Amino acid sequence: MRYLTLLLALMLSSQLFAQQPVLISVTEASDSPQISRHIYGHFAEHLGRCIYEGLYVGEENKTIPNTEGVRNDIIEALKELNIPNLRWPGGCFADTYHWKDGVGPKDERPTIVNRWWGGTTEDNSFGTHNFLNLCEVLGAEPYLSANVGSGTVQELIDWVQYTNHDGVSPMADWRRENGREAPWKVKYWGVGNETWGCGGNMTAEYYADIYRQYATFMPGWSGETEIYRIASGASEDDYHWTETLMKNVPYHLMEAVALHDYAVFDWSDKGPSVNFDDEIYFKSMEQALKMEEYVTKHIEIMDKYDPESKVALFVDEWGGWYDAEPEVKNGVLYQQNTIRDVMIAGTVLNTFNNHARRVKMANLAQMVNVLQAVILTDKEKMIKTPTYHVMHMYKVHQDAQLLPSKIEGNMEFRELPSISVSASRDKTGKVHISLVNIDPENEIPVELDVAGLDIKNIDGQILTSDKLQDHNSFDAPEKVTPKEFKGAKLKKGSISLAIPAHSLIVLQGK
Ligand code: AHR
Repeated sequence: MRYLTLLLALMLSSQLFAQQPVLISVTEASDSPQISRHIYGHFAEHLGRCIYEGLYVGEENKTIPNTEGVRNDIIEALKELNIPNLRWPGGCFADTYHWKDGVGPKDERPTIVNRWWGGTTEDNSFGTHNFLNLCEVLGAEPYLSANVGSGTVQELIDWVQYTNHDGVSPMADWRRENGREAPWKVKYWGVGNETWGCGGNMTAEYYADIYRQYATFMPGWSGETEIYRIASGASEDDYHWTETLMKNVPYHLMEAVALHDYAVFDWSDKGPSVNFDDEIYFKSMEQALKMEEYVTKHIEIMDKYDPESKVALFVDEWGGWYDAEPEVKNGVLYQQNTIRDVMIAGTVLNTFNNHARRVKMANLAQMVNVLQAVILTDKEKMIKTPTYHVMHMYKVHQDAQLLPSKIEGNMEFRELPSISVSASRDKTGKVHISLVNIDPENEIPVELDVAGLDIKNIDGQILTSDKLQDHNSFDAPEKVTPKEFKGAKLKKGSISLAIPAHSLIVLQGK
């Protein structure tokens, strides 16, 4: 019996040793699209401690160094990410927000009750000027999400005039009175948010008509500023929504259609952000990987009506969403961020890169202290989450040319594909290949065929940790950080490496 067990163990281990590598080919294609840097966009909503007590500590704050009330440590961290755009003020909050209440002398501003998020009363001290000036400091394009649910067409066109008009006009004059001479030239404008839900509970048909009305009056104040009007889009697999917009809105009125998709497996019991078990991890990844299917199918519909890809797909809310941490005061949607989030971000960003022909923007929800945040704060302390490091490692793909990749013989973590990949060549000629192994237990050997790419040297970085639940905390802020990866061997146009369990690697080839 003992011999039999020994024999079985030997057979199993030799099977493991003989494990065939997953084959991935990465090729150059002259017609492949550029990966828009806007895929690496962010989102900041008036929600929990994202703006107040997070990003914004107020101009009067003497203990936390700030620029116009925005924390300097956050500004520095975001600059390192090269954040290309920032969406604000919501989310659901956007369809309750009246921008005129957030400009002019701060002590004269009315308050607003944040009806969607905890019923907190806000003093409107963070408004249009703070937000647009912050975007300038960051070198990021602002993306304003306008109020359709409880606003008016006039309110929106006044906002466009206020931010973009160079000449003499009532709103441009008011802007100058409020201390800003030059227009900010805001390009990206969302026409409502989740108008099928918190933005007004509209039908797709009704919203398509409303959208046409709003979109008609938006350009005209902007001189040379090109305006991108973004239609409030579908949730997950609501293909009827996308089809209705594509069918009913003339393309000269719409530059992009949005899509929202969160990795949530049960809206009534989302599970903990840290102390999750293997089953919850599997369910989270199952949801995260659905992004590939949703994006593919929404694009198929868009291709049917718009074969020349004039209208872009903007996934302007995405990320992992779990139960909020109970101990944090005013911590609405405040959650920790672990290696699971690294797996979600890496695989989803690979999907966006690979669909770069149509996906031109995406916004991770949300930037500070909310959902899959890149930054968490606790009074004067600030930490970068594991997701921050993914965004940092992947920034090499911003505005690089996509290199199409194909996987053969992928391994499976239960019924999910274990390995995910995307690749690009940047303007200096360097090749970057981002690889994710979501398998929680098994290292996977991979062979990359890069024969046509003329690579002479290879190096890389890896982001992983012993346990899936590992995370950065205010006491251990560097627990999960990228490390140099030396395990990739280049030989005769082929790169071989073994990707450790639950890890993300970005290779650089020169
Ligand atoms: O990001 C949190 C919320 O999720 C947003 O306010 C809303 O648009 C979505 O449902």
